[in-house]
Amino acid sequence: MTASTASAPSVLRTIDVALGARSYPVWIGRGLLGDAARWRARLRGRHVLVLSNTTVAPLYLERVAQGLDGLRWSSFLLDDGEAHKTFANIGRALEALAALGATRDACVIALGGGVIGDMAGFAAACWMRGIDFIQMPTTLLAMVDSSVGGKTGVNLPAGKNLVGAFHQPRAVVADLDTLATLPAREYRAGLAEVVKGAAIGDEAFFAWLERHADALAARDDEALAEAIARKVAYKAGVVARDETEQGERALLNLGHTFGHALETAGRYTALLHGEGVAVGMRLAAGLSERLGMSAAADTARLQRLLEALGLPTAIPPGMDPEQLLALMRLDKKNTAGTLRLILWRGIGQAEIVAGVDEADVLTLLQSAARG
Ligand code: NAD
Ligand code: GLY
Repeated sequence: MTASTASAPSVLRTIDVALGARSYPVWIGRGLLGDAARWRARLRGRHVLVLSNTTVAPLYLERVAQGLDGLRWSSFLLDDGEAHKTFANIGRALEALAALGATRDACVIALGGGVIGDMAGFAAACWMRGIDFIQMPTTLLAMVDSSVGGKTGVNLPAGKNLVGAFHQPRAVVADLDTLATLPAREYRAGLAEVVKGAAIGDEAFFAWLERHADALAARDDEALAEAIARKVAYKAGVVARDETEQGERALLNLGHTFGHALETAGRYTALLHGEGVAVGMRLAAGLSERLGMSAAADTARLQRLLEALGLPTAIPPGMDPEQLLALMRLDKKNTAGTLRLILWRGIGQAEIVAGVDEADVLTLLQSAARG
């Protein structure tokens, strides 16, 4: 794969994540990796570790490296994939910081998708009990979701994202140039996270997505910048109100309990995370309808939008509803014996619902699996 052409630097949108003294900008634009004057102003010291992977670094590390002149810096590259989001690799990243002689004012730069962003943030949270990090997301999913909000961490054999820290970045540099090399399926998975924001809490944005679905599917620049900015602005508001997920932030998990069960049942190969979220949102809408919370018309609108964006909405063939229900019982949001799910009252009106009857969920899964 060859890197996309670097554009002249231009910021198309800026969103601020308002967290008092820890507030930070999310810059969305073109040529931003090479716009070092902008992001270097967020560095406080002289040491930088760039964390990336063996797919992204050959494409984009050079652009970042050109901006690091005069600093003491090194890079640490992981093998590609979720399987490498481990404690062992955090240990290696920390060793790389030690080898660099990183001091308290050092900064970790995350150059990659959500796997790299989550790990770089966690390594930064651990080194000397917390140093700066900058997110340079290179997948659409990372631009609209994982790079914003400060959730960092790694997986354990016992489960995904079981260990981590809330640690906010100093800046998010979303350079749309990098998306030119992103595989189409990964791009669509990112669009699912855009739809999710609108489905949870912004009906006007949902209607805008319906009108611009074709442009987004075709990766139109202006539509894409607007979609990313609106999703990031929505998430930034939620994070500013509930940084550590004491309440409202849990809504950002619409479709996740179903989605994680589907991802796990598919052994993390049948569905990408964003695809699991797409099917999960459709199932959450179906369950809300079944429980009398929302209208069939809302479910149909969600299904149509996801399909227009090329996303799956059905349970993959061969998955067993009983197994999916068993996997849903393991979700971190549950209390003993009942399911706690994010459902909705219609487009833009998600809510946390505790004590959901497993029989209703099983009936829904059985009918969805029959197609
Ligand atoms: P990813 O990081 O695995 O990236 C997907 C694939 O795209 C990888 O193969 C990667 O090497 C490749 N890639 C990245 N940028 C590229 C580019 N510009 N050109 C070509 N290839 C490129 O996956 P993801 O979907 O970005 O992120 C998923 C991860 O994010 C999961 O670990 C998930 O748990 C985490 N996540 C975290 C949060 C959060 O709030 N912290 C939210 C959502 C997801
Ligand atoms: N992706 C969910 C959150 O950031 O809270």
